[in-house]
Amino acid sequence: MKLNSANINVMMKACRNAAKHLIRDFGEIEKLQVSVKGPGDFVTASDKKVEKILIDELSKARPNYSILSEEIGEIKNDEEFKWVIDPIDGTANFLHGIPHFCISVGLEKNNEIVDGIIFDPIKDEIFTAEKGNGSYLNNQRLRVSGRSDLKDSMIFTGGVRHGSKDEDLIQKEYKKIASEVDIPVRKMGSAALDMAYVAAGRCDGFWQRNLNYWDIAAGIILIKEAGGFVTDFKGEANYIKNKNILASNSKIGLEMIELLK
Ligand code: IPD
Ligand code: CA
Ligand code: CA
Repeated sequence: MKLNSANINVMMKACRNAAKHLIRDFGEIEKLQVSVKGPGDFVTASDKKVEKILIDELSKARPNYSILSEEIGEIKNDEEFKWVIDPIDGTANFLHGIPHFCISVGLEKNNEIVDGIIFDPIKDEIFTAEKGNGSYLNNQRLRVSGRSDLKDSMIFTGGVRHGSKDEDLIQKEYKKIASEVDIPVRKMGSAALDMAYVAAGRCDGFWQRNLNYWDIAAGIILIKEAGGFVTDFKGEANYIKNKNILASNSKIGLEMIELLK
């Protein structure tokens, strides 16, 4: 049986509470699809509500910790600890009634992520990790996959938004990786879950440009604690700054870096 630290318990409680609202709201989405206006405003409100629940719960338990959260930005407090929150990752899936999205919360201590939780409320899958104590899915210890041949690997990416400044480059990178694998590269729509799936060994490698810190914070510790590899596209540790993430099992990472260079 896995023993949680006090901070993981705080994160778990906040996420469970927020997830109840998220599940309820997801149930409403289907009805809103057929309305003329669509569910856009409803989803924005849901995103803000989930963020508020998370922030209220986390700050009640840890009043001195700073916060970085996607919708409200930064709340500066204690220099040592910071919550890094994405209230809904996979918003486009959520909006379209696709049950693949999550809540992601990381805890930074002295500029390093030491705790992470990625909570998929629809599948009731809770991925947690703590520095030095491993990664878990619910109560099950996680390891990255052992696959060493890129050709046979399951690879995820986030693709490119039309008109983005790196559109051509991203397409070039996609072609390079996609032409080396037999299974077509997947675009699942939630970077946080993509990283959780690498930690769980479901996916062998994930790469994406232009991700924000809240998209990846919890995923970083999940992958590291599951024995995986997180770098930028050059194999260096600057991924938070330059926003280019490569996450993989320990075996295919170097091959992916060679292709992305
Ligand atoms: C998005 C998702 C998506 C990724 C985008 C992110 P959001 O986050 O993680 O998979 O491709 O770059 O912005 O908007 O759903 O929180
Ligand atoms: Ca996100
Ligand atoms: Ca989000």
